[in-house]
Amino acid sequence: MTKKLKGLTFLVLMMLFVLVVTACSFGKSGKVEVGIVLPTKDEPRWVQDEQRFKDALKKSKYSTEILFSQGSSAKEKENVEALLNKGIKVLIITPHDGAAAASAVEAAKKEGVTVIAYDRLITDTDAVDYYVTFDSLAVGAAQAQYLVDNAKGSDVPLYLYAGAASDNNAFLFFEGAWKVLQPKIADGTFKIANSSEAEKLKDSVDLSREQLGKIIGQITTNWDANEAKNKAQTHLTAAGKELKGNVFILAPNDGTARSIADVFASDSAISSYFVTGQDAEKASIQYIIDGKQSMTVFKDVRTLVKDAMGMAVDILDGKTPDTTGSYDNGSIEVKAKQTNVIVVNKGNVKKELIDSEYYKADEFTGLK
Ligand code: GAL
Repeated sequence: MTKKLKGLTFLVLMMLFVLVVTACSFGKSGKVEVGIVLPTKDEPRWVQDEQRFKDALKKSKYSTEILFSQGSSAKEKENVEALLNKGIKVLIITPHDGAAAASAVEAAKKEGVTVIAYDRLITDTDAVDYYVTFDSLAVGAAQAQYLVDNAKGSDVPLYLYAGAASDNNAFLFFEGAWKVLQPKIADGTFKIANSSEAEKLKDSVDLSREQLGKIIGQITTNWDANEAKNKAQTHLTAAGKELKGNVFILAPNDGTARSIADVFASDSAISSYFVTGQDAEKASIQYIIDGKQSMTVFKDVRTLVKDAMGMAVDILDGKTPDTTGSYDNGSIEVKAKQTNVIVVNKGNVKKELIDSEYYKADEFTGLK
């Protein structure tokens, strides 16, 4: 074989080798079947979901990728486009902003991708196929019922806080809470301490989206612990003696509950407080054990991940996923699967979170 032919053969073999390597590497890194987009890594809640997805995906035959939108709808859109470029067939997405996410999922829809809204609903678009969520109305109702069950006497100061108005769940949480609290405000048990909008509506149990929006606009924490802290400080500075002493606080989730509780605990005119929460974050479970937070609403994220991935696999297997109801997102009835929630306080931390292996006992101190 001539030297020239040897050189040519070597060249052809090299090119073949490079082609195979790139094809393999493209297969491995390029192609993704299920894309998962979560709102932010800055809140413990979504880091919980990321871990539970990773646990569940170990067993999946389909390739997946998880991306975070860091509290930005623009970043969220970029994430969706990046996943579309990788050829996803199913998009599982928790919107940063329920309405602003419409354009991202419409882009996915155009590519024939099936869209599953995860935990938070995407509103005012028909580009959502399925929705997996917890019973958000029940979350608010459970938080409010905890306050009602522990309140004694009349004119008991009630401080109200809510989630981000860009999050459809914040409306459901507050609506669920208001339905339970309003009768106890109207009968004089509670005295609203920090919201003139809520005060104006205290005789109405059924509030429109617009009325809910007015109250939420005034007491929102934007799901941000610092904003919650600043608001609590402003409210306590403005509050007279009659709005202190033994008080009751509706805090929308654990991250905001801890920062609000710290502010109230540092006010010498506050003799005691009851404060609600949500998400069973580890730090708040420790607060509950230490008596610094009263309760949280446990949402077993393992179930939500199982439902979302179960739907994705059904879709990729060409089957129609099971659903248990639907949600009106302002444009269509979105087929949905909803999971119940569990109230956790000092008395049942072990039963609900340790015995269920959601957390390990040695992750806490003082657990009895
Ligand atoms: C909600 C979610 C809550 C929560 C909050 C803050 O939509 O349902 O679990 O923690 O967002 O991210």
